[in-house]
Amino acid sequence: MAESMQGLNRTCRCAEISPEMEGSDITLMGWVSKSRNKGGIIFVDLRDRSGIMQIIFEEEHCGSEAFEKASKLRAEFVAAVTGTLIKRAGEVNENLKTGAFELKAKSIRILSESETPPFPIEADSKTKEELRLKYRYLDLRRPDIQEKIILRSKITASVRSFLTSEGFLEIETPILCKSTPEGARDYLVPSRIHPGEFYALPQSPQIFKQLLMCSGYDRYFQIAKCFRDEDLRADRQPEFTQIDMELSFVNEDDVMDVNERLLKKVCKDAIGLDVQLPLPRMTWQEAMDRFGSDKPDTRFGMELKDVSETVKGCGFGVFTSALENGGSVRGINVKGQAAMPRKKIDALVETAKEFGAKGLAYLCVNEDGTYKSSFAKFFDEAGLESLVKAMDGEKGDLLLFAADKNKVVWDVLGNLRLSIAHSLDMIDESKFNFLWVTDFPLLEWSDTEGRFTAMHHPFTMPNEDDWQYIDSDPARVRARAYDIVLNGTELGGGSVRIHMNDVQEKMFEALGFTKEQANEQFGFLLTAFKYGVPPHAGLAYGLDRLVMLLTGADSIREVMAFPKVKDASCLMTECPSPVDEKQLLELGIRTESAPAQEGSDEK
Ligand code: AMO
Ligand code: AMP
Repeated sequence: MAESMQGLNRTCRCAEISPEMEGSDITLMGWVSKSRNKGGIIFVDLRDRSGIMQIIFEEEHCGSEAFEKASKLRAEFVAAVTGTLIKRAGEVNENLKTGAFELKAKSIRILSESETPPFPIEADSKTKEELRLKYRYLDLRRPDIQEKIILRSKITASVRSFLTSEGFLEIETPILCKSTPEGARDYLVPSRIHPGEFYALPQSPQIFKQLLMCSGYDRYFQIAKCFRDEDLRADRQPEFTQIDMELSFVNEDDVMDVNERLLKKVCKDAIGLDVQLPLPRMTWQEAMDRFGSDKPDTRFGMELKDVSETVKGCGFGVFTSALENGGSVRGINVKGQAAMPRKKIDALVETAKEFGAKGLAYLCVNEDGTYKSSFAKFFDEAGLESLVKAMDGEKGDLLLFAADKNKVVWDVLGNLRLSIAHSLDMIDESKFNFLWVTDFPLLEWSDTEGRFTAMHHPFTMPNEDDWQYIDSDPARVRARAYDIVLNGTELGGGSVRIHMNDVQEKMFEALGFTKEQANEQFGFLLTAFKYGVPPHAGLAYGLDRLVMLLTGADSIREVMAFPKVKDASCLMTECPSPVDEKQLLELGIRTESAPAQEGSDEK
């Protein structure tokens, strides 16, 4: 039977004891992590969110009633123990913060019992993630997860304190919003009062924060929940949190400056990391040319080299036809890997194909000066030599080449570079390489939609020097957009916004909107801009990604208290789930495959 805690006060958490408390009586409350009955003495490890304390029950000290109770303790029972804090009699446990002490129990209350948990509550769990997520409330007891969730709270506290001190106001924006077809797919919420009409959950507070600038709040921030119905990956969830901000009367340098100082403070507060400012910057073009990615991992080399000029006149059709079609031939140099077995090289070719390549050409520069290659026969000796030189190749190197449209070549080699670096252990995991990527293209062609779409969003200011090409060569127009990248992950992104109606209207036109469509979707924003709008700019971080990278977690699921799995469902609450027919009727909704109702005559 569970006992009450009436009359008892918790003195502190287990690992909050201090040396001055030695010899005094304290009361600890928590979960039983382990208990070992050694006959006349029972050892209990009591766990709370701060750590673990070893407790000893000796019958002659605590009395037979307490000893009897202690002998009933099982894993995950909740107990309150009062006793004297003493120096450990046995060896100091270096693995525990409290390892030099133990609690000599005087009394105990069992506040609640526990069934045997479906998996052990321990750090570095070997239990399958599905089972852990089904019982997430137990999983969240594990010390390594608790550490991450606690660090997340530290990070948001640090963000709030910094931004507030810089004059930012925290303002909430709506969750029930208007659906806009740009960007990812919306989550829709049906309206009961307006049957057949829907709200959308916000993909980001973008439009509202711009309106707040129109209203004169000049520095806004919000720790904002965002919702996107897109395919999930290790760093993507359907609902996630942004650190969102917007500033008036600023340009990109102002936004970058305040954000560099924010990152420096957060890294120091959260993990004691000293970030050197200013952070490096790189244009999008340079990032693609050198790393094949707009979020380069700069912790290692193996950069891409464009060898189009060198291979121009060669007899290898794969290369020449790519060049004739306006593409390029580029390569990476995998240093010292010329002796890689054929099987492994074939596996690299397969990996390249998974990233969209038609093939991957290779050239091993053997130690004896000979070559082993899939295409050497199409080159003469001098041609091969100049190709090796163009790749900074030396004896012992493995050179890999892709030939295709630029976009494909970047994608293939950028991904291959990462995958090889991981498999050859080339990445220094202790590094935190921040990088600004700037000057993104304003628009990108979408084959599926058959039109240009905004690379960032439709409110991003074009580069003034390029605006003249918006009709003749839209792909050439650069945006005043910037991303902040950490160790190859896009941590955040933002831009200077369009604040002139004529430019905004032209932008909608370039995106294929008719005037009516633009007005129907964003009329309120265009109207607001008629009443005095300050130049403004902003940025949003993925908070979950920031926490993931600072805690060294493998996925953002580990740093969210209640994450969803790959198919966007919650294994614990089993949502999404069918709803009552009555609820659907009220909303005027009929589903195609009607959910089976309890008590229906379906047999
Ligand atoms: P963007 O769409 O780049 O910009 O989003 C900003 C940051 O949010 C994070 N993020 C995600 N994190 C987890 N799961 C997801 N599904 C997910 N999608 C995005 C990323 C990303 O860098 N309104 C603009 C910002 C602005 O211009 O101010 C915006 O939302 O870390
Ligand atoms: P194939 O002529 O298709 O047999 O290809 C000859 C060699 O070129 C093989 O090693 C292919 O993997 C490689 N290859 C094919 N297409 C490409 C490409 N687009 N880029 C680089 N190498 C390629």
